[in-house]
Parts: sequence; structure tokens; C-alpha cells
Amino acid sequence: MTIKWQNYYAERTKHITGSQIRQFFALTERPEVISFAGGFPGNEFFPCKDISAALAALVLEDGKQALQYTSTEGSAELRTYLAEKMTGEGAFKLADNLIITDGSQQGLDLLSRILVNPGDAVLVEEPAYIGGMSAIKSYGGIPVGIKMDEEGVIPSVMEKTIKRLKDEGKNPKIFYTVPNFQNPTGYTTSLQRRQAVMAIAYRYNLVIIEDNPYGNLCYEGEVPTSYVAMDEREQVIYLGSYSKILIPGIRIGWMAGPKSLIEKVSLAKQTTNLCSSTLGQQLAYRLSESGYVDLHINKLIDLYREKRDRMLNSMKHYFPADIEFSEPKGGFFIWVKFPEYYPPSREILNIALKYNVAFVHGEGFFSDSKCGSHGARFSFSQPNSEEIETGIKILGSLLHTISENKTLEAVGQ
Ligand SMILES: Cc1ncc(COP(=O)(O)O)c(C=O)c1O
Repeated sequence: MTIKWQNYYAERTKHITGSQIRQFFALTERPEVISFAGGFPGNEFFPCKDISAALAALVLEDGKQALQYTSTEGSAELRTYLAEKMTGEGAFKLADNLIITDGSQQGLDLLSRILVNPGDAVLVEEPAYIGGMSAIKSYGGIPVGIKMDEEGVIPSVMEKTIKRLKDEGKNPKIFYTVPNFQNPTGYTTSLQRRQAVMAIAYRYNLVIIEDNPYGNLCYEGEVPTSYVAMDEREQVIYLGSYSKILIPGIRIGWMAGPKSLIEKVSLAKQTTNLCSSTLGQQLAYRLSESGYVDLHINKLIDLYREKRDRMLNSMKHYFPADIEFSEPKGGFFIWVKFPEYYPPSREILNIALKYNVAFVHGEGFFSDSKCGSHGARFSFSQPNSEEIETGIKILGSLLHTISENKTLEAVGQ
């Protein structure tokens, strides 16, 4: 007789569930599919030769350290470098305010682990980054979405939601946000909204988790002041990452926050992985300190801007005029809104897949999965420019048929 593994799982694992968009991922990743679904960086931009040379030099010159374990909070050199960089950007930090993580996803997991009790309401953007909501849910937290527009979450909605939750006896204590070029909408929270959100956070004693993996990939203008730089009361925890500005393969990110919180996070991290990859940290340090990462970011900005422009221009040209889409000034994502009289985006995706084009349908990004049925996330980071135009053109022709007939039957469904 074989063991029934589900009977062995700990009680707390009942909150660990896959995202509903996963079922589509196998389909979207088929080689013949032009996929706007994945949010990975374009791997044609990975500087393989430079990384290879830097790794070889690192191991030869400093292998005894670089191949050893390091402290749980991470390499002092890298933390000092990052703290100085943050200080230069207006957010005063010391190395003790930082811990190195296995990417910002681990930061989200560790923070959920130490801050979220089962049943806690956690404020998130609506729509929100799925991985952030999954981390919150995996510890029994309940993400509660705050509606967004192009300027970020709407402060009046935020305040109303907090009051409603308090009336229900719940006391939200966290707001999780991706203020720059958000995943999935591409929206950037305006300075005015940041100030309003910060004021709400102070009024209701909310901690803000500011997740900023895309802020450096800014293709137009500048990003507004970060929450962490505005904060005067140590109520902001900041998450940074090398995944999108260098490579995700080294799995190196960082968390910055009050020293006492970082010490607690460090204790939690000890039982998770002892430390993040020493090799990855040393590599990130060498490439950052020499100025290489900044130069690489400048190259990425030009390369991704070209892809973004191609996708936006293609959407303008090929999509029916009644379809709305965001115009992000950076990052990887464009949020598409199909009118209510269209079929749900999930059904449109099903047909698009038959024509070998993929995107991510909307519901998974909403804390209330009854919402988002007519939204979709399009990522321009992975396909090349020609594929972007071809994929959007194919989709555009499908959408015109749907738009004219208001039904999927017109496209053979
Ligand atoms: C908003 C957001 N946060 C965190 C992550 C995780 O990134 P990392 O590779 O740093 O763990 C991603 C990855 O796509 C993301 O989009």
C-alpha cells in the first residue's frame, strides 16, 4: 500500500496552494508559442561572457571565501555597498539595516512568516503581484485588494477599506506595494499618491512593504521618491533585487528595514537556508562596485524600451479601438482591459493559444478572484521585437473578429 501524502501534511500547509494561472503555463511555454505570459527577463540580454569572466576571476582570486558559507545576513561588503547606494538615493541606511536574500521573493516569504498571523488581513494592490499574495496566503494571511488606477492605489478606497476591516474586528497592519512599473499593470504610483498613502500608513500604524524590482528599468522620465526615502518613522521595509537588473540566476536580492526587524528576519532566514549564495553575493558585489551593473542597466534601458515601444505601437495599430492598455514608463508589463461586452480574457486566451499566442488572463492578480475577468497581463520582456509585432498582429485580428461579433463563435468556438 502506498502512503497518502496528503494525510501527512502539516496543518499550516493547507494555505499553500498553486496559483490558478499555473495550469496555463505549460501551454504558454511551448516553443511554437509567442508568449507574452512569462515575466522573466530577456535572456538574450544576459551578459554571459562578462559573468563568466567575473566568476572565473572571483574563484581564482578569492575562492576560499567565495566558495565558503557566509553569514546569514550576508556579505558585509555587499550590504555596505547597497546601504551606501540607498543612502545616496535619499534613504539613509547602514549595513545593519540590510539583509541579503535569495531574491525579493524570499524577502516576501520571510516577512510574511514573521509578520502575518493566520486570518490577518493584509492590504495589497488590486491587481497585485501573484507571488506577493501567495507568500501572504501561505502563512494564512488574507490579501485584501485596494483598487488602483494609473496613479497607483486610490487613497480614499484604502482608507475606507481600513475602516471597514476595523469595523469587522480586523486590524490590518501591512500594505504590500510595487510602486514602480508594477507587476501586473505597469502603473507607477505618483508622488502625490505616495504621500497620501504614507500619511494613511502613519495614521493607522501600517507597515509598508515596498517591493522594487523594476524601478531601475525606467525608460522615460524618473521614478518618484521611494516610500523608504520618505519614511521618517521606520515604517517601511524595502525589497531590492538583482534579478531584473543583472540576472535572476544568482538569486540575490536584499531587504532594508529597521535593525531590530532585520535581526528577526535573520533568525527566520537561518532555518531557511543558513545564508544566501556566497558566490552570488561576491559576484554581485564585484560587478556593482566596479560600476559594471550601472552600465549594464543603461544598456538594458535602451533594449527594453525598444521592446516596449514595439508592443505599444503594435497594440495601437492592430488592436480594436475599444481595448484599453496601460502605457508603462518602465518595467516589463502592459495591462490590457477588454470591454465587458467581450468574452472573459480567460476564454480569449484559450483561443489565442490555438493561434500560438499567449498572455496571462486577469483573475489570478486579484485578491477577489471574481474580479479581473476582463483584464490581462502582457509582458514584452522575453520575445524579440519581431515576435512582439507578429504576436500582437495575430491577436489583433482575432480581437477584431470578436469585437465585431461580440462572441467567440465568430472565431470558430
Ligand atoms: C513584483 C515582484 N516582486 C518580486 C519578484 C521576485 O523577484 P526575485 O527574482 O528578486 O525573487 C518578482 C518577479 O517577477 C516581481 O515581479
